[in-house]
Amino acid sequence: MKRAIIEGGRLLQGEVRISGAKNAALPELAASLLTAHELVLHRVPRVKDVETMLELLLELGGEVHVGEDVRIKMERVQGETREELFRAMRASVLVLGPQLARFGRGEILWPGGCSIGERPIDFHLRALEKMGAEIREENGRIKARARKLKGAKIRFPRITVTGTENIMMAASLARGETLIENPALEPEVKDLSRLLVKMGAGISWERDGLHIEGVDELKGAEHTVIPDRIEAGTFLVAGALAGGDVKISGCNPAHLKAVLGAAGEAGVEFESGEDWIRVKGGRDFLPLHIETREYPGFPTDMQAQMMVLLCFARGTSTVRDNIFPHRFRHGEELRKMGANIEIYPGKAIIKRVRKLRGTKVLATDLRASASLVIAGLVAQGRTVVEDIFHLKRGYEDFFQKLRNLGAEIKEE
Ligand code: EPU
Repeated sequence: MKRAIIEGGRLLQGEVRISGAKNAALPELAASLLTAHELVLHRVPRVKDVETMLELLLELGGEVHVGEDVRIKMERVQGETREELFRAMRASVLVLGPQLARFGRGEILWPGGCSIGERPIDFHLRALEKMGAEIREENGRIKARARKLKGAKIRFPRITVTGTENIMMAASLARGETLIENPALEPEVKDLSRLLVKMGAGISWERDGLHIEGVDELKGAEHTVIPDRIEAGTFLVAGALAGGDVKISGCNPAHLKAVLGAAGEAGVEFESGEDWIRVKGGRDFLPLHIETREYPGFPTDMQAQMMVLLCFARGTSTVRDNIFPHRFRHGEELRKMGANIEIYPGKAIIKRVRKLRGTKVLATDLRASASLVIAGLVAQGRTVVEDIFHLKRGYEDFFQKLRNLGAEIKEE
């Protein structure tokens, strides 16, 4: 298994360029299933989850060209897809809605993904049923059929990001209007809707929800993926703890309001412009009480990284994860490095320590990996992060970007 070896205490200095957002690229790649024409996507991050999605589309019969841009043409779908592609990534569920809408049938396996607790897809399936799909399960496969999906009024039991995306794509080719009363408002969802509109979809965001007027056919389009706000936030925390002076460029600070707000409250020194953030390192932070929420709230995908910063804050902090209450395994690993973190159901309490010590820790999911690497950057001595493949699922060239800033990291 791949591991990263990090020598602590190196000062980060310089500029880092943010990649395209993984969580926007994934549904946008899946949107290629909605049309027989070519989709051209710019700024698609080269991360493992994107590769998995591209392989999935290829096995479904797509023509896929990956160069500077990604070009996909899905004239028809065919073939059985390998089970491991579904198991590798939860976002594989995103191929169901568009397939069903365009071809009248779709099949997926129970999707896998990060080990961050129970992550069902029942909201996706119930909403598709409401749109007229017949769904059955056979030997672990979910098979969906519908001669023609019809528009429906959908209220998810709770807000769901990929659920909103899946239904938005399916509804774009359904008969009549769909209203999602409580859509997710994440920038990645909005970005997908912009792509779908370019493809000819009838989508409008109104006060009462997300309206989608189905059309008979969608056309090809060209689109640039938005910058990855979580990658930018991750470098913000790394810079705050291990800078120096770090400029995070090519990002969209407007998508990071909650994270920047929390960083400001903690006393992180930063300034930002239209597409950049500049952060200065320090160690004198104030404690925070963070609760993760749907956008525009504080993102669950940033709590692990922020927790490292809070280890050094002057006082007691709390982090409550309302989205994924079991997403605290990084807390146990950080404890091995000397952090004072107590973990309770749905919540962690973090008390100040003067230092973290390098040791061997285990990456358990994507964002946990990032937090352990950040901890390694500021720990005394050498940190070995095992199972680093999790990190490759969602961060493009993470180690190289850190090395360019002055970090000393080896992979083996
Ligand atoms: N939920 C259900 N049933 C469903 C769907 C969701 O109970 O059918 C629950 C979940 O268990 C969770 C809540 O609803 O408690 C919200 O989950 P959501 O569906 O919004 O999560 P997701 O769409 O599976 C996306 C991101 C995640 C990110 C979450 C929350 C993608 C591909 N994934 O997941 O990203 O944490 O939204 O913002 O967009 C990551 O990048 O590291 C990552 C895990």
